[in-house]
Amino acid sequence: MRQLILTVIGGGSTYTPELVEGVIKNTDVFPVKELRLIDIDDEKLNIVGGLVRRMIESSNAPIKLILTKERKVALEGTDFVISQIRVGGVKARIRDEKIPLEFGIIGQETTGAGGFANALRTIPVMLDIAKDIEELTNNAWLINFTNPSGIVTEALLRYSKVKTIGLCNVPINFFYRFASILGIDIKDIYLDYVGLNHLSWVRKVYHKGNDVTKEVIEKIKGNLPQKEREIVELIDMIPNSYLHYYYFRDEVLETQKNSEKTRGEIVLEVEEKLLEKYKDESLKEKPPELSQRGGAHYSDAAVELMKSIYLDRKDIQIVNVLNNGSITDLPDNGVVEVPCVIGSNGAMPISMGRLEPYIRGLTQTVKYYEQLTVESAVEGNITKAKQALLVHPLVGAKAVADGLLERILEENREFLPQFFRR
Ligand code: G6P
Repeated sequence: MRQLILTVIGGGSTYTPELVEGVIKNTDVFPVKELRLIDIDDEKLNIVGGLVRRMIESSNAPIKLILTKERKVALEGTDFVISQIRVGGVKARIRDEKIPLEFGIIGQETTGAGGFANALRTIPVMLDIAKDIEELTNNAWLINFTNPSGIVTEALLRYSKVKTIGLCNVPINFFYRFASILGIDIKDIYLDYVGLNHLSWVRKVYHKGNDVTKEVIEKIKGNLPQKEREIVELIDMIPNSYLHYYYFRDEVLETQKNSEKTRGEIVLEVEEKLLEKYKDESLKEKPPELSQRGGAHYSDAAVELMKSIYLDRKDIQIVNVLNNGSITDLPDNGVVEVPCVIGSNGAMPISMGRLEPYIRGLTQTVKYYEQLTVESAVEGNITKAKQALLVHPLVGAKAVADGLLERILEENREFLPQFFRR
């Protein structure tokens, strides 16, 4: 079997041990001989790298570990690149969460104005990384987890030649959730799943070919608050939890306004504790405290995807790819999150057809917001940036007129050279 090199950009993330656990477990079928972690934060890279080294040693996996700050060292000749960077760090995330609140709108790291600011910072950096991947590798795969994952993936697929697949742990979590609810094996589940990253719906759940959607919905409803139950009944589908921001906009906004801390501020504390843990020389595995972060099954999603590419398995996984007609209501060059056949040639979207009228308009609006955001981030185009915010259902005209964009650009100035060229 051909031995592989795997590079993780943003390797100093506290999530990395989760990923490494999956890589170690799979060395017999996905033979990583070299794992390269790259990060701009020395301290985190060394702490996380230390734990990763102990994990590899204690498992006796034949993996050579390289920790580096240099892209050339990290990328040269690599086969797979996983990107999990956060441009501006958690501090920038906290700003993304707080600035929109000043304008009376929801602040979230991937959805709405916060996700927009995140995209403007992140897209140029990812395109720069993509350029290096083109130059330094022999057509390596880029698996993108970097948020906002769908938007960043669209920028990569439209503006670089790198073979990119966008990934999120939401789809795989649906599989685990339904398997646990019904007491069945995830391998026997097929999901009719449509939408965009963090804006998706499970239309149907099949178990060994049988439609078990009703059963799943009945069981899920039992644990939902009344208002959410009503929504599930109304649409007869299972919404991604990020749809909360749309379906319960006013309530979420109220909660955010009254919260002492944003999620980013909580994450900062969780991270500090995790890093303290990771420093402990006797720790040789992913600690249970990591589950306080939102990335459950992140590792399974990444490793299963890379395995299917490497082994040409041609199985079906839900990932982010160019639509190319899969959802007929959306543009071909827009990235969608849909079931795809995964093999050595990449991810081929399955035809999902039309969206139901009650999810179609929202999906189209958010897709065009995403496309305008990508173009504005690439071109440094203020007009497109304003248009993007104007059409976003959680932002709208008032926040734009009140100067939201100005504030976002000013607060992120050091990360947005494309908007400050003159
Ligand atoms: C989920 C989402 C990811 C997001 C994460 C946030 O897993 O799918 O896109 O990054 O939650 O978790 P955090 O612990 O950073 O709030």
